Amino acid sequence: MDPAETFATLMSPEGRLDPYPAYERLRAHGPVVQTGPGVYAVTGYPEVDELLRDPRMRVSDDQWRDMMLPQWRDSPALSTIARSMLETNPPDHSRMRRLAAGAFTPRRIAAMRDVVAAQADELIEAMASAGRGGRPVDFMADFAYPLPVAVICALLGVPAADRPLFRRWAADLTGVLEPEITWDELVVADAGATELVGYFTELVAARRRRPADDLTTALVQAHDAGDRLTGDELLANLVVLLVAGFETTTNLLGNGLAVLLAHPAAADVLRRHPEHAPAYVDELLRYDSPVQLTSRTSSETLRAGGVELPAGSWVLLLLGAANRDPRRYPDPARFDPWRALLSPLSFGAGPHYCLGAGLARLEGQVAFTRLLHRLPALALSGTPRRRSRLTLRGYETLPVTVG
Ligand code: HEM
Repeated sequence: MDPAETFATLMSPEGRLDPYPAYERLRAHGPVVQTGPGVYAVTGYPEVDELLRDPRMRVSDDQWRDMMLPQWRDSPALSTIARSMLETNPPDHSRMRRLAAGAFTPRRIAAMRDVVAAQADELIEAMASAGRGGRPVDFMADFAYPLPVAVICALLGVPAADRPLFRRWAADLTGVLEPEITWDELVVADAGATELVGYFTELVAARRRRPADDLTTALVQAHDAGDRLTGDELLANLVVLLVAGFETTTNLLGNGLAVLLAHPAAADVLRRHPEHAPAYVDELLRYDSPVQLTSRTSSETLRAGGVELPAGSWVLLLLGAANRDPRRYPDPARFDPWRALLSPLSFGAGPHYCLGAGLARLEGQVAFTRLLHRLPALALSGTPRRRSRLTLRGYETLPVTVG
């Protein structure tokens, strides 16, 4: 199968459910391959890492969006969200990122451990009681979604009563992160984006009337203080912080639990030695990455992995494939928390390196150790169902019994 055909397989429903065979077929052609006119896919760890750090590689700008998805301008909400730090290049990117970064320093994250643990314990007790007598519960709905939503809502100052609103809206919006998107998916994404922008427009107004000790208020004040953040940028970054804060972490918890349940001996070691949680979480991130890819365009001609990328190329950086590069990770399809070298690329690299990486790791470490400790008989029950998404890889449902 040539790279173009393999790429098409990756985009197909089967590829979305299990992309790993297609990654290996692409890798057989080299760490960087052309998969179409002006389109390249990168599967190698050092190549993905290097390209993400290269200032000549830029995140999608308006010109790129006009070319790939001209209808985006018809959606005021999607056009607003496109102003977030995630989709902006320096110097605007650095200005916006600096404003939010204060909430994510290692000290601030460490101080959230008790909030995360209390929330995890509450959800575990609720699952234990709902699952009494061997009744199956859905780990995604009952734990993997509500935990990260509660944490990011606490940080942003979003009222607890509003948390259930976001699951559908975020799932709809994040369709735009797929490398190929249909008209119908765009309409759905527009609906989710419209709800989210509307929600934060109201929250911003509320915090302006009555400031609170939260990240929303801090960003509203940065906007109101002068020229540090435009109105669209304010809304865009609030939406992205909320959505990036849970869509991904939900998938770390779901993908990670499924792997632990499939490896009971390794899970048992973690149950007895919670101090190994950081290595376990990093290996879970590597083994089945919650974010499988991101993309960049080359602003000038450059070389990577022995291949020339002409200026204007669209380059897919396959994080999930780089995390299984056998040149860096021997026997990469094996789950092994004792690997000497971890540092998976699941949080990206370079200027857009995930702002919430420390928080996500903390949530994973706290969640898995407490789940294994409190629910030692946790087991799969029935067949889990994957979401049909390549970029944000996770489960729709993950039925378990709690013993
Ligand atoms: C950026 C992954 C959790 C906020 C990113 C990027 C990746 C990523 C790969 C870079 C995208 C790119 O370079 O194009 C993940 C994963 C998570 C996670 C796998 C969970 C396991 C979080 C959390 C937050 C967060 C909890 C909290 C708010 C952000 C933000 C950016 C980002 C704001 C944009 C940073 C920038 O553009 O400078 N994330 N993320 N993420 N993430 Fe996360």
